Amino acid sequence: PEDRTLVLEDTCLEFSSLGKGDIRDPFLEIEYADGSRTSDFRYENAEVLTGKSVPQSLPGSYQEDGQEEHLVVSYREKYAGLKLELHYTVYPDCDCICRSTVLTNESDQPVRIHRLMSAQIDFTDATYSLTSFHGAWAREMNKVTVPVTTVDYVNSTNAGVSSSRSNPFVMLHEPQATEDAGSVYGLNLIYSGNHYTSAGQNAYGKTRLMNGVNPLGFSWLLGPGESFETPEAVMTWSGEGFNGMSRHMHRFVREHIVRGEWKHKIRPILLNSWEANYFKITEASLLKLARQAKDVGIELFVMDDGWFGERNDDQRSLGDWQENRSKLPGGLKQIAEKVNALGLDFGIWVEPEMVNVNSKLYQEHPDWAIDIPGRDHAEGRNQRFLDLANPEVVDWLIAEMTRVFSSASISYVKWDMNRIFSDVYSRTLTPDRQGEVSFRYFMGLYRAMHTLTERFPHILFEGCASGGNRFDLGILSYFPQIWASDNTDAICRFHIQEGLSYGYPMSTVAAHVSSVPNHQTLRTTPMSTRFGVAAFGILGYECNLTDMPEAIKKKIRKQIVMYKEWRETLQFGEFYRVPNGHYYTWTCVSPDQSRAVSLLMQELTRANTQAAGFTARGLKPDARYHFYNLKRDHNIRKFGDLINTQSPFHIRQDSMLHRQISYVVRMPGEVEDLTLSGRTLMNAGVRLKSAFAGTGYNENTRFFADFSLRLYFMEQV
Ligand code: DGJ
Repeated sequence: PEDRTLVLEDTCLEFSSLGKGDIRDPFLEIEYADGSRTSDFRYENAEVLTGKSVPQSLPGSYQEDGQEEHLVVSYREKYAGLKLELHYTVYPDCDCICRSTVLTNESDQPVRIHRLMSAQIDFTDATYSLTSFHGAWAREMNKVTVPVTTVDYVNSTNAGVSSSRSNPFVMLHEPQATEDAGSVYGLNLIYSGNHYTSAGQNAYGKTRLMNGVNPLGFSWLLGPGESFETPEAVMTWSGEGFNGMSRHMHRFVREHIVRGEWKHKIRPILLNSWEANYFKITEASLLKLARQAKDVGIELFVMDDGWFGERNDDQRSLGDWQENRSKLPGGLKQIAEKVNALGLDFGIWVEPEMVNVNSKLYQEHPDWAIDIPGRDHAEGRNQRFLDLANPEVVDWLIAEMTRVFSSASISYVKWDMNRIFSDVYSRTLTPDRQGEVSFRYFMGLYRAMHTLTERFPHILFEGCASGGNRFDLGILSYFPQIWASDNTDAICRFHIQEGLSYGYPMSTVAAHVSSVPNHQTLRTTPMSTRFGVAAFGILGYECNLTDMPEAIKKKIRKQIVMYKEWRETLQFGEFYRVPNGHYYTWTCVSPDQSRAVSLLMQELTRANTQAAGFTARGLKPDARYHFYNLKRDHNIRKFGDLINTQSPFHIRQDSMLHRQISYVVRMPGEVEDLTLSGRTLMNAGVRLKSAFAGTGYNENTRFFADFSLRLYFMEQV
């Protein structure tokens, strides 16, 4: 009433409540004891604190020295005795602000929260596009950009998990922003359940961006004296385009999300048994594979699904974490010892959040599964969630995994989770609290992950959810890396990893070289391409080395030697996406900018596009760098019957003679070898050797067929 010109709907607000005139998407919706839903919060005070006190029941950002600068702004509801706190923590080293909300009921009446968001950002203008990332199993993280208009655009999931359908990370940006220029905001949420982000313009030309827990299916009864805290939102901005924003987020995740012993530790190269054996494993077959792994230079051997209970397929035994003695006669202990004796670390697969109806655990505790008593249940991969909203089940999970992890010398754990939520219900909560189940599930899961990672600090944990169905900052607060997708096809993986690279650093992205034809797509890609793509993540192998010809193993040995030399830069360097015509280019630069490694990849060859350039990013302009590629030669059979353009006599393609010649005659590959200043590499770039274009071939020609990839290296001289 004091200011008749004030129109809430036309004002930029830090949070908005329902029912007082701001008719945009509200930040909160609270139902009071009398059934009304209008809130009227008034500013009370603000203070800047050192150190961070929230959230306590959920994972959150942190600073090693505990000296974060932390602003708390408090409000009080005029009539209902509710206290609302907005918490802001700043991380100047990466230009990120984390924001969360705490609501405390200081009245003597319960209230029901229908919605309480983590961050709201109101912009004075309406000139934005929103980019978010969508997909499904095996095709995660496809980039989708839409203009922000007068219809609210919502990026959310109702899968129960952060999901492959819609990742919680989004970017709000100028429509014309590029990888290297333009204004870009990044927004993420430290939460693994149903999330919600909305972006919209209102009638007054203002834009609102908001994120938090998805209100759909959610409600929380807040009794007198109780508090509810939201997950933290992570916000950043860069004027240096998408790459600039990504570098802030990468640094934030590396420094303020990932924690524990593995935070800055070089990650080992592993061999995973899944695509080599699926469920058909025995100690003997695993050891055979492990011996081959050791022989090529792999450091960690991982036994995937199939080692426990009666687990010969995906129909049974989840919950029964006892070794299958006919597969592993000496149990986990013996196989771990034997793998260790080969000079390899040993890792296992678990899926502790789940139970199959066909299991001893379900027979003993049918009430521990999430389902609605008396109703049919939708099975996903033949399994149900354990009710982690029930503290007793969480205690069991912690005790059971503690037993398994201490039963043998285990250095690595792949923690899988293979379905989406359905039939959400907990027997331990009263009917008026059933809207809390999903959120309480994650509180329980985080307690388990926290306890186990603290109890087993040396174990390298890798998150997995049918690949990337739970790639988020909640999981990364406990597990330093996540299996990005069950799709190991190099071309698909390239795009999935590029999608992830917008919001997540490469040190969090596990990626494997697998066999061809690929098990998900039946596509055949060159070994060098499969390696190049996986090497830009946390490299592993997932293929049957025991069946591989010596020539391929020789290549793998070389790849591994090279990777070991460059992995510090690849795993922890600054990552850049570099636009390059119809080619794709990524670059990783070491923190001291003395070394960089890049890849150049193409999907389908285009005729008559011989010329290609390469430009670097992130180097020291005045330093000089040796720019080179790996020397290689090509099998003459790759040229098909073009051999007859050179041969003095006719050679029938694919004949015995053609094959015999291919053993002795190799075609030399192109060589790049220059010394240039960082400034030249980043601005003028390098004109690469021309690609083959139907006019002959010599050692200065780049053989660049479909799905080809090259790695380029830069070292300061
Ligand atoms: C799904 C995972 O994403 C795969 O890598 C594999 O571990 C299977 N589960 C095993 O059941």
